[in-house]
Amino acid sequence: MAPPPLDIAEQARFVSGKVISVEFSASSPTPAYDIVIGQSILTEAATLIRQRLGARRCVIVSDSIVDPLYRARLEAILTAGGHTVLKNFVIPAGEGSKNLSQIGALADSMLAVGVDRKTLIVALGGGVVGDISGLVASLVMRGLDLVQIPTTLLAQVDSSVGGKTGVDTPYGKNTIGTFYQPRLVLIDVTLLDSLAEREFRAGYAEVVKYGLIGDPSFFRWCVTHGGQLLNGDHETQIHAISYSCAAKAKIVANDERETGSRALLNLGHTFGHALETATGFSSVLVHGEAVSIGTLMAFSLSAKLGLCFRHDYNDVRNHFLAVRLPVTPPPFAYDIDRLIDLMRHDKKSTGGKITLVLPHGIGNAVIHRDVDPQAIRAVWEESLNS
Ligand code: GLY
Repeated sequence: MAPPPLDIAEQARFVSGKVISVEFSASSPTPAYDIVIGQSILTEAATLIRQRLGARRCVIVSDSIVDPLYRARLEAILTAGGHTVLKNFVIPAGEGSKNLSQIGALADSMLAVGVDRKTLIVALGGGVVGDISGLVASLVMRGLDLVQIPTTLLAQVDSSVGGKTGVDTPYGKNTIGTFYQPRLVLIDVTLLDSLAEREFRAGYAEVVKYGLIGDPSFFRWCVTHGGQLLNGDHETQIHAISYSCAAKAKIVANDERETGSRALLNLGHTFGHALETATGFSSVLVHGEAVSIGTLMAFSLSAKLGLCFRHDYNDVRNHFLAVRLPVTPPPFAYDIDRLIDLMRHDKKSTGGKITLVLPHGIGNAVIHRDVDPQAIRAVWEESLNS
């Protein structure tokens, strides 16, 4: 299902920041929540939380990179704004933290400081902090309220919205997790100013994704403005993040637990997750880079299967090259049989048959079940040998 195209008036409103509501169907027990996007959102965090969730006892979860940058400031803002910060928890930065031991340790530590059912968990960090905090929030006391304050581009346009939580196992990425929606998402684009160049660029692959799955005009906008965004222009960032969150909010509202159209958000991810798992979730490849490579592999496969034109593949590849996203897997001792096996174990695949999101042109992604493994093998061979 396509994300919503934005008319010009809507686009203009995005430029000065935006509140986007994620609203579920009347039959869903999940409360609606806001995503607030702008340039001074961290400073306003206490007020934004109090307006929606009241004055709260909080615990802050961040990681070893974000903690020294922003945690003390957030703690001061929350305290001055009438909230009580019980404790800060700092996990080691990186995908390596996404394991069940970390979840157990964090949950125990929260119980030890006396969290109760009214305690708010504030996740300050990128996708790893968000995924871990979300999983802990869904488990402790059978569910504590969660506010996401994402600090990476990837988390601001994707992982902080929609309630997916998870940890990795040897069987694959995010293979243990829950669906657990936050109560509020606060996105401050100025936090991106301190983001490592590699992480920032990699997160941009998830922005382009929204154009590729449902809106060719947004892909064209990315081709024109992607450079400005990556050069740190806050207005351009607010536009792209607002667009991405609005598109994701609509998809998630219609399919909270990914029984259908939400899987479109995984364009490029099945190839990408196989690469990340094969390379041991290491610095060989960060998630957004895996998505960039995986997206091109999905376009290449589609072109081979006659679902899209080769020039669609070329247009995406040219844009990724222009913004210096990787287009082929980094050197590593890959085993194609294992990569295909990992794709068979992807959460979308069932009964040993591989499910993939494949583009039928730019802006028109479609879920395909039981994709021919020989065609997938040919794309792996092409990509690994180019
Ligand atoms: N990151 C894809 C999703 O939230 O469904």
